[in-house]
Amino acid sequence: MAGRSIIFHVVLPLCLVLQATMATDPPFSCGSPSSYPFCDRKLPIGQRAADLASRLTVEEKVSLLGDVSPGVPRLGVPAYKWWSEALHGVANAPADRAGVRFDDGPVRAATSFPQVLVTAASFNPHLWYRIGQVIGREARGIYNSGQAEGLTFWAPNINVFRDPRWGRGQETPGEDPTMTGKYAAVFVRGVQGYGASGAVNSSGLEASACCKHFTAYDLENWNGVTRFAFNAKVSEQDLADTYNPPFRSCVEDGGASGIMCSYNRVNGVPTCADHNLLSKTARGDWRFNGYITSDCDAVAIIHDVQGYAKEPEDAVADVLKAGMDVNCGDYVQKHGVSAFHQGKITEQDIDRALQNLFAIRMRLGLFDGNPKYNRYGNIGADQVCKKEHQDLALEAAQDGIVLLKNDAGTLPLPKQKISSLAVIGHNANDAQRLQGNYFGPPCISVSPLQALQGYVRETKFVAGCNAAVCNVSDIAGAAKAASEAEYVVLFMGLDQDQEREDLDRIELGLPGMQESLVNAVADAAKKPVVLVLLCGGPVDVTFAKGNPKIGAIIWAGYPGQAGGIAIAQVLFGEHNPGGRLPVTWYPKEYATAVAMTDMRMRADASTGYPGRTYRFYKGKTVYNFGYGLSYSKYSHSFVSKPPASMMASKLDGLKLKAMESSASGATISSYDVEEMGEEACERLKFPATVRVQNHGAMDGKHPVLLFLRWPETKGNGGSSGRPARQLIGFRSVKLRAAEAKHVEFEVSPCKHFSRAAVDGKKVIDKGSHFVVVGDDHDEFELSFMA
Ligand SMILES: *[C@@H]1O[C@H](CO)[C@@H](O)[C@H](O)[C@H]1NC(C)=O
Ligand SMILES: *[C@@H]1O[C@H](CO)[C@@H](O)[C@H](O)[C@H]1NC(C)=O
Repeated sequence: MAGRSIIFHVVLPLCLVLQATMATDPPFSCGSPSSYPFCDRKLPIGQRAADLASRLTVEEKVSLLGDVSPGVPRLGVPAYKWWSEALHGVANAPADRAGVRFDDGPVRAATSFPQVLVTAASFNPHLWYRIGQVIGREARGIYNSGQAEGLTFWAPNINVFRDPRWGRGQETPGEDPTMTGKYAAVFVRGVQGYGASGAVNSSGLEASACCKHFTAYDLENWNGVTRFAFNAKVSEQDLADTYNPPFRSCVEDGGASGIMCSYNRVNGVPTCADHNLLSKTARGDWRFNGYITSDCDAVAIIHDVQGYAKEPEDAVADVLKAGMDVNCGDYVQKHGVSAFHQGKITEQDIDRALQNLFAIRMRLGLFDGNPKYNRYGNIGADQVCKKEHQDLALEAAQDGIVLLKNDAGTLPLPKQKISSLAVIGHNANDAQRLQGNYFGPPCISVSPLQALQGYVRETKFVAGCNAAVCNVSDIAGAAKAASEAEYVVLFMGLDQDQEREDLDRIELGLPGMQESLVNAVADAAKKPVVLVLLCGGPVDVTFAKGNPKIGAIIWAGYPGQAGGIAIAQVLFGEHNPGGRLPVTWYPKEYATAVAMTDMRMRADASTGYPGRTYRFYKGKTVYNFGYGLSYSKYSHSFVSKPPASMMASKLDGLKLKAMESSASGATISSYDVEEMGEEACERLKFPATVRVQNHGAMDGKHPVLLFLRWPETKGNGGSSGRPARQLIGFRSVKLRAAEAKHVEFEVSPCKHFSRAAVDGKKVIDKGSHFVVVGDDHDEFELSFMA
């Protein structure tokens, strides 16, 4: 491990110097003894927020409705900055507006976890929760150090990764709504300082998380259509079973204190101006308790780009009356007072928003005197980048790496015996690339090349391409290096010039001359080569899958500050890979067959539309959702299988009435879940126990995935039908070599057997349902019939 100790020698002394710098007090209100009711901790937060609002003029109130919110010195209220980022670690935001600063205090870096899609690939909610916890703690440490003017973080991004070209798919937990919802809930709980499960506490936020972008936002800039102008046409059914469930879970199960409404319109209405979405659905149906921010400049575009509002004041009225509270941008600050004078908004509209904003700052403890002496006061700068946090970043990278191909034991590489190694690819030599987007300065910075140099002294690096675009290449140089080395590892894939915010991909293949380079290197090499893919969105690597000279393929995504080390550990067998793909990898043709603007999830055979994600797409794939190999083989089987008639006895006496509907020319009978009621749903739950065994010689962490599938019947597979399969449970299990364990899942038919009907209603179809586990597809059938 010579290489690794070199790395730490470079980094450590720097941290020590920085921690010796003086810290200042964080901003807060209600420091000196005060008779203002808004400072009285014994009063309910709503009352305190209303009291503070009542002391302000209309002009002052409006001035507080932008992300850069000035102070009110006469009341001892400091300025506040609503905009901070923490997608996979506390991150940078635009310097003049960011709530968090890394440039003037004791904290100069924060733990950088893998980009979310990689973390998701662990299928491990406990890991996701712990990452959220670390982020919340580091955020509070930075605030207490006097380096922040805000504690509201605009993460997680929980839009479903609907189309493989989406530039921001990398930021999300993938294409499955249930998994995305689970990620949202546990991440938010961690960040906000809540327990991993159980009731959420509305006061005492450690930091505030924000579910974004509400809703049906997953297009940046494709074929001339921008996210600002895009009108997403979404059916009630797709909204109910794909686009909205992550947000519902983020709010109901996570207790999120923030929501961001998106740029796009949904069925003609800008989301930030949609009362039905913000007030009726989120605040009403889901009991959302928190603040709603616009995406940045999303209020301005309602007038400027979308033309939805005739005058700027109409846009202000639309959003405040819909239920939005703070505008990222200054449009409401600029046009709010005139909207008031024109009678387009009332003072009550302003107060409603303002009180939601004050309530969050109060829940964060910023109106209780110096936060250094309060609940989270003992969290200081020394908590940021501490060893446990960095270890967790390494664990997340290890567990997220997905082994896609491993012919004839190409991997792991023999650690002690390698005489020479060629490392090829521009991606290998750049530690920052490992971060993806939305990152801050990481605690350590190690490129994959540096990490590999720690294992093999004779390592030769050839970039081979100028960048991911690869329109300038040195194929001959790369092939020569490959022919001279004993082993060859290629680092190919994408970067932020190919996929990012504001930029979707056009094609699904590796860009430019990358394929030619990989093939030439594989041809020239002495042994089958290893291909490591650094990218967020999936790439079509069919050429590599079928090439026997490419012995192994690994997807490492953008694995964060410890990603280079984790990749090396996987390559040399110090870690047994267990990650699973959280998205479908489609063939290149998918990009020509499907318009990114088409929001329909379900396939439509009549027009050849293939549908989206593993739930609805039945065409050819490069790799499936949930796919991933390991250095171990695992088996799964249900410990006992209930008789198909078990449901009938549970349903006995419930007097359920099925209703008939027709789809694609067939009649379906189903039960309305809401009508069944909570008590019945409780009674229907049952446990399913799976025996999992590691048949390999290495210990491993293994995700166990439980699916529901339905029989293929006429009417149900069509354009309005149910998914082919649906993930209903997953758990990461640690298994020593040869060890077997029992894993128990709770199956709730109301949740897991149900589907969204055309009108969005949750129903359970009469008839067969199959519960399926693992790659070996052990399953049992239950018949739902009252
Ligand atoms: C909620 O948080 C408050 C403030 O920290 C604390 O006093 C209270 O005991 C907590 N309640 C629960 C149920 O955990
Ligand atoms: C390579 O692609 C980049 C990005 O599209 C472009 O700016 C550059 O001019 C191209 N270089 C060559 C040599 O084609």
